[in-house]
Amino acid sequence: MHNGLAQKRSHAIYPGSFDPPTSGHMDVIVRAATIFTTVTVAVVVNPQKRSPHFTLDEREEMLRRCTAAYPNVRVDHFRGLLADYVKAIEADVIVKGLRVVSDFENEMAFAHMNRSLSNVDTMFLMSDSAYSFVSSSLIKEVYLQGGDISKYVPDVVLEYMHQKRLAQGRI
Ligand code: PNS
Repeated sequence: MHNGLAQKRSHAIYPGSFDPPTSGHMDVIVRAATIFTTVTVAVVVNPQKRSPHFTLDEREEMLRRCTAAYPNVRVDHFRGLLADYVKAIEADVIVKGLRVVSDFENEMAFAHMNRSLSNVDTMFLMSDSAYSFVSSSLIKEVYLQGGDISKYVPDVVLEYMHQKRLAQGRI
């Protein structure tokens, strides 16, 4: 049937710090990959307000390994404004996950600003409730204090967490 919609290709950007990627991030990526023709997972070079635990290369490597089974998912990075990057790669939509109501307030302002700057809309996927409390910062804190995070990160990420801890001399 030629209704135009069936033939539309769509390129979504899923931006974030991914320091490190969590199972919550993976859930959003996999669901987005079933909705959009292409999903670019875009790692921000310098996360706001903090120096990252993992280097940019490590964050990209982890994401590439975690998404290797999904041929329409690519991993990239960007500096500066997301809106400029979205325009530069001619993406159709920004995708974000919403875990809890308090995420919404910030995300609403980001979505309005990004649309105003780039004319690209943001679409939200509700995070799986199993991951509603999972964040990269909480994962790092629990792991570095000896807690078990294996339910909340992909195996690849757990491996990188172990390696980083060894490299930093914390056994
Ligand atoms: O995983 P995070 O840290 O929640 O991701 C935040 C991110 C990278 C999506 C956001 O900080 C961002 O878009 N940074 C790029 C700079 C920018 O465009 N700032 C204005 C946002 S309206």
